[in-house]
Amino acid sequence: MTNIKACLFDLDGVIVDTAKYHFIAWRELAAELGFEFTEENNERLKGVSRMTSLEILLEVGGVSLPEEKKIQLADQKNERYVSYIAKMTPDEILPGVVDFLNQLKKAGIKTAIGSASKNTPIILERLKLSHYFDAIIDGNKVSKAKPDPEVFLKGAEALGVLPSDCVVFEDAAAGIEAAINGGMRCVGIGQPEILGKANMVVPGFENFGLNELMKLGNGQ
Ligand code: G6P
Ligand code: MG
Repeated sequence: MTNIKACLFDLDGVIVDTAKYHFIAWRELAAELGFEFTEENNERLKGVSRMTSLEILLEVGGVSLPEEKKIQLADQKNERYVSYIAKMTPDEILPGVVDFLNQLKKAGIKTAIGSASKNTPIILERLKLSHYFDAIIDGNKVSKAKPDPEVFLKGAEALGVLPSDCVVFEDAAAGIEAAINGGMRCVGIGQPEILGKANMVVPGFENFGLNELMKLGNGQ
Protein backbone atom coordinates (compact mmCIF):
# COMPACT_ATOMS: atom_id res chain seq x y z
CA MET A 1 0.00 0.00 0.00
CA THR A 2 0.99 3.58 -0.50
CA ASN A 3 1.18 6.30 2.15
CA ILE A 4 -2.50 6.03 3.04
CA LYS A 5 -2.71 4.83 6.62
CA ALA A 6 -6.19 6.03 7.60
CA CYS A 7 -9.57 6.95 6.13
CA LEU A 8 -11.69 9.53 7.94
CA PHE A 9 -15.40 9.57 7.18
CA ASP A 10 -17.97 12.27 7.57
CA LEU A 11 -21.24 10.62 8.69
CA ASP A 12 -24.32 12.46 7.39
CA GLY A 13 -24.45 12.12 3.60
CA VAL A 14 -21.43 9.81 3.40
CA ILE A 15 -22.33 6.77 5.51
CA VAL A 16 -26.09 7.38 5.68
CA ASP A 17 -28.63 9.81 4.23
CA THR A 18 -29.81 11.55 7.39
CA ALA A 19 -30.31 14.82 5.46
CA LYS A 20 -33.91 13.77 4.74
CA TYR A 21 -34.67 13.47 8.48
CA HIS A 22 -32.95 16.78 9.25
CA PHE A 23 -35.06 18.31 6.46
CA ILE A 24 -38.40 16.98 7.74
CA ALA A 25 -37.64 18.18 11.28
CA TRP A 26 -36.49 21.66 10.14
CA ARG A 27 -39.45 21.99 7.75
CA GLU A 28 -41.89 21.21 10.57
CA LEU A 29 -40.26 23.85 12.74
CA ALA A 30 -40.46 26.42 9.93
CA ALA A 31 -44.16 25.59 9.41
CA GLU A 32 -44.79 26.23 13.10
CA LEU A 33 -43.03 29.57 12.75
CA GLY A 34 -45.26 30.34 9.75
CA PHE A 35 -43.01 30.00 6.72
CA GLU A 36 -41.99 27.44 4.11
CA PHE A 37 -38.59 25.76 4.15
CA THR A 38 -37.70 24.11 0.84
CA GLU A 39 -35.39 21.25 -0.07
CA GLU A 40 -33.19 23.80 -1.81
CA ASN A 41 -32.92 25.80 1.43
CA ASN A 42 -32.01 22.54 3.17
CA GLU A 43 -28.91 22.15 0.96
CA ARG A 44 -27.38 25.06 2.88
CA LEU A 45 -27.54 23.08 6.12
CA LYS A 46 -25.32 20.19 5.02
CA GLY A 47 -22.24 19.91 7.20
CA VAL A 48 -23.36 22.93 9.24
CA SER A 49 -23.79 22.75 13.05
CA ARG A 50 -27.23 22.63 14.68
CA MET A 51 -27.26 26.23 15.93
CA THR A 52 -25.89 27.62 12.65
CA SER A 53 -28.54 25.60 10.80
CA LEU A 54 -31.20 27.29 12.92
CA GLU A 55 -29.70 30.71 12.15
CA ILE A 56 -29.92 29.94 8.40
CA LEU A 57 -33.52 28.72 8.76
CA LEU A 58 -34.54 31.88 10.64
CA GLU A 59 -32.82 33.99 7.99
CA VAL A 60 -34.84 32.19 5.27
CA GLY A 61 -38.05 32.98 7.18
CA GLY A 62 -36.98 36.54 7.98
CA VAL A 63 -37.51 35.81 11.68
CA SER A 64 -35.36 37.21 14.48
CA LEU A 65 -35.59 35.78 18.00
CA PRO A 66 -33.80 36.11 21.34
CA GLU A 67 -30.98 33.65 22.09
CA GLU A 68 -33.00 31.80 24.74
CA LYS A 69 -35.83 31.09 22.29
CA LYS A 70 -33.34 29.93 19.66
CA ILE A 71 -31.88 27.37 22.05
CA GLN A 72 -35.39 26.14 22.82
CA LEU A 73 -36.26 25.80 19.12
CA ALA A 74 -33.01 23.97 18.35
CA ASP A 75 -33.80 21.52 21.18
CA GLN A 76 -37.32 21.07 19.86
CA LYS A 77 -36.03 20.33 16.35
CA ASN A 78 -33.49 17.89 17.75
CA GLU A 79 -36.12 15.98 19.74
CA ARG A 80 -38.07 15.47 16.53
CA TYR A 81 -34.97 14.53 14.55
CA VAL A 82 -33.96 12.00 17.21
CA SER A 83 -37.45 10.44 17.10
CA TYR A 84 -36.91 9.82 13.35
CA ILE A 85 -33.35 8.51 13.50
CA ALA A 86 -34.24 6.28 16.45
CA LYS A 87 -36.17 4.15 13.95
CA MET A 88 -33.33 3.80 11.42
CA THR A 89 -32.07 0.33 10.50
CA PRO A 90 -28.83 -0.96 8.92
CA ASP A 91 -30.73 -1.07 5.58
CA GLU A 92 -30.21 2.68 5.45
CA ILE A 93 -26.41 2.47 5.26
CA LEU A 94 -25.54 3.87 1.84
CA PRO A 95 -24.63 1.29 -0.87
CA GLY A 96 -21.05 0.03 -0.89
CA VAL A 97 -20.09 1.51 2.49
CA VAL A 98 -19.84 -1.74 4.48
CA ASP A 99 -17.95 -3.43 1.66
CA PHE A 100 -15.41 -0.61 1.57
CA LEU A 101 -15.02 -0.61 5.38
CA ASN A 102 -14.33 -4.35 5.25
CA GLN A 103 -11.72 -3.85 2.53
CA LEU A 104 -9.99 -1.21 4.66
CA LYS A 105 -9.96 -3.49 7.69
CA LYS A 106 -8.38 -6.31 5.67
CA ALA A 107 -5.75 -3.93 4.28
CA GLY A 108 -4.87 -2.69 7.80
CA ILE A 109 -6.00 0.87 7.06
CA LYS A 110 -7.42 2.61 10.12
CA THR A 111 -10.82 4.30 10.11
CA ALA A 112 -12.47 7.14 11.98
CA ILE A 113 -15.67 9.15 11.91
CA GLY A 114 -15.32 12.94 11.76
CA SER A 115 -18.79 14.48 12.05
CA ALA A 116 -20.33 17.70 13.34
CA SER A 117 -23.34 15.76 14.60
CA LYS A 118 -23.91 15.39 18.32
CA ASN A 119 -26.20 12.48 17.41
CA THR A 120 -23.33 10.43 15.93
CA PRO A 121 -23.37 7.76 18.70
CA ILE A 122 -27.08 6.99 18.32
CA ILE A 123 -26.86 6.92 14.50
CA LEU A 124 -23.89 4.50 14.49
CA GLU A 125 -25.63 2.34 17.06
CA ARG A 126 -28.85 2.17 15.01
CA LEU A 127 -26.82 1.26 11.90
CA LYS A 128 -24.81 -1.30 13.91
CA LEU A 129 -21.60 0.32 12.64
CA SER A 130 -19.94 1.57 15.85
CA HIS A 131 -17.46 -1.31 16.00
CA TYR A 132 -16.17 -0.62 12.46
CA PHE A 133 -14.39 2.57 13.48
CA ASP A 134 -11.11 2.85 15.39
CA ALA A 135 -12.00 6.38 16.52
CA ILE A 136 -15.16 8.47 16.61
CA ILE A 137 -14.83 12.26 16.73
CA ASP A 138 -18.21 13.98 16.72
CA GLY A 139 -19.95 17.25 17.57
CA ASN A 140 -19.61 16.47 21.27
CA LYS A 141 -15.81 16.48 21.02
CA VAL A 142 -15.06 19.55 18.89
CA SER A 143 -15.56 23.26 19.34
CA LYS A 144 -14.73 24.53 15.85
CA ALA A 145 -17.01 23.79 12.90
CA LYS A 146 -15.85 22.70 9.43
CA PRO A 147 -14.14 24.24 7.40
CA ASP A 148 -11.94 24.33 10.51
CA PRO A 149 -9.95 21.08 10.38
CA GLU A 150 -10.30 20.34 14.13
CA VAL A 151 -12.60 17.32 13.74
CA PHE A 152 -10.27 15.59 11.26
CA LEU A 153 -7.05 16.56 13.04
CA LYS A 154 -8.45 15.06 16.25
CA GLY A 155 -9.37 11.94 14.27
CA ALA A 156 -5.83 11.58 12.90
CA GLU A 157 -4.39 12.14 16.36
CA ALA A 158 -6.69 9.54 17.93
CA LEU A 159 -5.53 7.05 15.29
CA GLY A 160 -1.86 7.99 15.73
CA VAL A 161 -1.54 8.82 12.02
CA LEU A 162 -0.09 11.93 10.37
CA PRO A 163 -2.61 14.17 8.54
CA SER A 164 -0.62 13.68 5.34
CA ASP A 165 -1.28 9.92 5.59
CA CYS A 166 -5.08 10.38 5.85
CA VAL A 167 -7.84 10.50 3.26
CA VAL A 168 -11.13 12.21 4.15
CA PHE A 169 -14.54 11.30 2.65
CA GLU A 170 -17.00 14.20 2.61
CA ASP A 171 -20.27 15.25 0.97
CA ALA A 172 -20.17 18.93 1.98
CA ALA A 173 -18.01 21.69 0.52
CA ALA A 174 -17.14 22.91 4.04
CA GLY A 175 -15.92 19.40 4.87
CA ILE A 176 -13.66 19.25 1.80
CA GLU A 177 -12.18 22.59 2.88
CA ALA A 178 -11.68 21.24 6.40
CA ALA A 179 -9.71 18.29 4.99
CA ILE A 180 -7.57 20.58 2.82
CA ASN A 181 -7.03 22.96 5.77
CA GLY A 182 -5.86 19.97 7.81
CA GLY A 183 -3.33 18.92 5.15
CA MET A 184 -5.26 15.80 4.15
CA ARG A 185 -6.31 14.40 0.80
CA CYS A 186 -10.04 14.08 0.24
CA VAL A 187 -12.67 12.31 -1.80
CA GLY A 188 -15.93 14.15 -2.47
CA ILE A 189 -19.08 12.03 -2.31
CA GLY A 190 -21.62 13.72 -4.57
CA GLN A 191 -21.45 16.25 -7.37
CA PRO A 192 -18.21 17.69 -8.83
CA GLU A 193 -19.89 21.12 -9.20
CA ILE A 194 -20.18 21.37 -5.40
CA LEU A 195 -17.11 19.36 -4.35
CA GLY A 196 -14.66 20.49 -7.03
CA LYS A 197 -11.83 21.18 -4.58
CA ALA A 198 -11.56 17.48 -3.65
CA ASN A 199 -8.75 15.33 -5.09
CA MET A 200 -11.42 13.06 -6.55
CA VAL A 201 -15.23 13.16 -6.65
CA VAL A 202 -17.37 10.01 -6.87
CA PRO A 203 -21.16 9.57 -6.65
CA GLY A 204 -20.89 7.02 -3.81
CA PHE A 205 -19.08 3.88 -2.66
CA GLU A 206 -20.74 1.43 -5.07
CA ASN A 207 -17.79 1.50 -7.46
CA PHE A 208 -15.18 2.69 -5.01
CA GLY A 209 -12.69 0.29 -3.43
CA LEU A 210 -9.02 -0.04 -2.50
CA ASN A 211 -7.95 0.28 -6.16
CA GLU A 212 -9.59 3.70 -6.45
CA LEU A 213 -8.22 4.73 -3.06
CA MET A 214 -4.70 3.82 -4.19
CA LYS A 215 -4.96 6.35 -7.00
CA LEU A 216 -4.74 9.00 -4.27
CA GLY A 217 -1.78 7.36 -2.63
CA ASN A 218 1.13 8.58 -4.64
CA GLY A 219 2.10 11.39 -2.35
CA GLN A 220 0.21 14.13 -4.17
C1 G6P B 1 -23.95 17.17 10.16
C2 G6P B 1 -25.09 17.46 9.18
C3 G6P B 1 -25.73 18.80 9.47
C4 G6P B 1 -26.13 18.89 10.93
C5 G6P B 1 -24.92 18.69 11.83
C6 G6P B 1 -25.28 18.72 13.30
O1 G6P B 1 -22.85 17.96 9.83
O2 G6P B 1 -24.60 17.44 7.85
O3 G6P B 1 -26.85 18.95 8.63
O4 G6P B 1 -26.74 20.14 11.21
O5 G6P B 1 -24.33 17.42 11.52
O6 G6P B 1 -26.10 17.62 13.59
P1 G6P B 1 -26.82 17.36 14.98
O7 G6P B 1 -27.24 15.91 14.86
O8 G6P B 1 -25.82 17.56 16.06
O9 G6P B 1 -27.97 18.30 15.08
MG1 MG C 1 -22.04 15.39 5.55
